[in-house]
Amino acid sequence: MDERAIGVFDSGLGGLTAVRELRRILPQENIVFFGDTGRVPYGSRSPEVIRKYAAECMRFLEKQNVKMIIVACGTVSSVLGEDMGKGFSVPCMGVVKPAVKAAAAATKNEKIGLIATAATVASRSYEKLTKNLLPHAEFTAKACPLFVPLVENGYSGADCEVTRLVAKDYLSAFDGKDIDTLILGCTHYPLLYNLIDKLTGYRLMLIDAGSEAAVAAKEFLEENGLLSSGQSGKMKFFVTDKIEGFTRLGKEFLGEELCNVTRLDPEELTTR
Ligand code: DGL
Repeated sequence: MDERAIGVFDSGLGGLTAVRELRRILPQENIVFFGDTGRVPYGSRSPEVIRKYAAECMRFLEKQNVKMIIVACGTVSSVLGEDMGKGFSVPCMGVVKPAVKAAAAATKNEKIGLIATAATVASRSYEKLTKNLLPHAEFTAKACPLFVPLVENGYSGADCEVTRLVAKDYLSAFDGKDIDTLILGCTHYPLLYNLIDKLTGYRLMLIDAGSEAAVAAKEFLEENGLLSSGQSGKMKFFVTDKIEGFTRLGKEFLGEELCNVTRLDPEELTTR
């Protein structure tokens, strides 16, 4: 048993979709969430900058005495790849491996699609892991840079016309590819789940990378005897921009009120 909190890191708000799943399957766990809301989006940045920002945020979480860090960000998980957790004193896990495992288990025809940020698609992280598990798989990826700002501005409803048009254009990349499984490789995208499901005629298996990471974290904690023995876990949030915007939109991601939120200056991260 281990009463320390689970650390969850995202470039912004998207990682709260992983927290939502954690709360559902591990309600007894304490959670410390770090959202780098002052520097989001990472998805259009260079790998060097993403690595620097991620290291600062993950070090901060490590100092919060967490028992593990879930990198609930498709972009950071993709850029760090095998280096994930190197030099950290606690185990670190990303979203790519759990999502690919789920997609490989779900697909019937081994034709898998990915939608994610530009940095994630450029890293080919999901594709490489998919080919490791399913060497004959056909993999098609599409970067969807407008999805994050649309979601962050509340344009995520299943009938939102603006987002529907954008999504229709992005998803046309899969026309003729016959995919049966689509990985939502960015943790913001589960908020577009209903819209994408409707637009694709409810015929694709949609894989939510954040949720799959939460399930993998549960397995990891169970296997290593690290589950909390408490009753009802508490949550703490750290962000690098205005608290007000975070709590308002965050409620939509998390499905519950966000209390106990602290704002930090990114400059402070290296010193705190
Ligand atoms: N959280 C990021 C991801 O899952 C999306 C937002 C960003 O571009 O930083 O890829």
